[in-house]
Amino acid sequence: MPVIAIVGMQWGDEGKGKIIDYLSQNADIVIRCQGGANAGHTVVTNNGKKFVFHQVPSGILNPKVQCIIGQGCVVDPIKLANEITRLVVDHGIENPKGRLFISPRAHVTLLHHRLLDEGKESHYPLGTTKSGIGPTYVDKIKRCGIRMGDLAALTRWNKLEPIIKRALKENNVLLKWYGLSEVNSNDQVCVCFDHASLLGYLIDPKIDEKIRWNVMNNKTVILEGSQGTLLDIDVGTYPYVTSSNTTSAGLCTGSGIPPTKINKVIGVMKAYTTRVGEGPFPTNTKSHEKYLREKGNEYGATTGRERRCGWLDLPSLKEVIWFNGITEIALMKLDVFDALSSFYVCNAYTSSNGKTPIFKSFQGWNRSIKSVSSYSDLPLETKTFINYIESFLNCPITMISTNEKREQFILR
Ligand code: IMP
Repeated sequence: MPVIAIVGMQWGDEGKGKIIDYLSQNADIVIRCQGGANAGHTVVTNNGKKFVFHQVPSGILNPKVQCIIGQGCVVDPIKLANEITRLVVDHGIENPKGRLFISPRAHVTLLHHRLLDEGKESHYPLGTTKSGIGPTYVDKIKRCGIRMGDLAALTRWNKLEPIIKRALKENNVLLKWYGLSEVNSNDQVCVCFDHASLLGYLIDPKIDEKIRWNVMNNKTVILEGSQGTLLDIDVGTYPYVTSSNTTSAGLCTGSGIPPTKINKVIGVMKAYTTRVGEGPFPTNTKSHEKYLREKGNEYGATTGRERRCGWLDLPSLKEVIWFNGITEIALMKLDVFDALSSFYVCNAYTSSNGKTPIFKSFQGWNRSIKSVSSYSDLPLETKTFINYIESFLNCPITMISTNEKREQFILR
């Protein structure tokens, strides 16, 4: 049984939550590998109940699966404790003890990180989720971060206090520069202690062994990517990106599974493109933006912001296939086109400036495909569109989603 990496092919919000939930029915473990509370992975159950996961892996709805928050993640302990409470109390999910584990190497997001994110946004706006993601990764790279393993050291106040004091010494100078109040280190030590008692039982010092055992014993391991490739810190639309590697390579470092053990990389893309936050978006459409936003419910799952909407960008997706080594594609939200008489796809950029998209138009299918369950029952126009994407990208589309319910997939 394979190790399957799931990556977003656009600017996030492609529908990774639905794919991960679906595949985790037959999985042994699901590992979230990067990012933190900035993510919003949505799963809609068959009775219409909607779950939005921010830090907990989307596999948690399947009771047999073990879920791991991997070493490449940044964990906001306050938000994670709330998310777990909501899942247990409001949604009746069984207490995740024994099913949810956190790597002691994952870094901790605290108040000063969230404030620094806000401060930076007010001076140099990138349109972040203001969840403190960038500043937490900055501390990690600067080697003055706090790790979940430090939180687990409950009895070692003496260990935690100097780490937090050190991190705050520099960061408080920056907060002051942004015109914000300094953060008190004792308060943050207390927050860590409080949350160590809430989350400490999830922090697993033997996580590497667990992951290795599953891989070496041919269990099915799903690596859950967050955000999308165009938000990757290296290959994305820098500086309008997130602060982690969202590609399959990032899923390797973020889980601790070596690249030679990955068997499949599934790229998840929507039939169109969306983007939240600042940054370039060449295929953004003004004429159809409202339609796509309303039909596709394109509002941020974490911030509620309106997503900008546009047509597919095939030249960019071709690059994305390469950067991730994508072996197959899951095509999402195809039904959003149901009421369009025609729609567009960017298949090239002008040779003069290389920046202006050239669009090809497609005929719409003008009927609902929401309840279609086999490929052969799809309208001819839908198949023409699917075949065009496959041959342009030279990659098979193996899963097609035409409505939000968790079981609804056309498999090929
Ligand atoms: P940050 O990750 O909060 O630092 O935000 C950086 C950029 O990534 C912003 O444009 C955000 O809107 C975007 N972003 C972060 N997480 C997600 C996500 O889960 N879906 C879509 N966009 C995201």
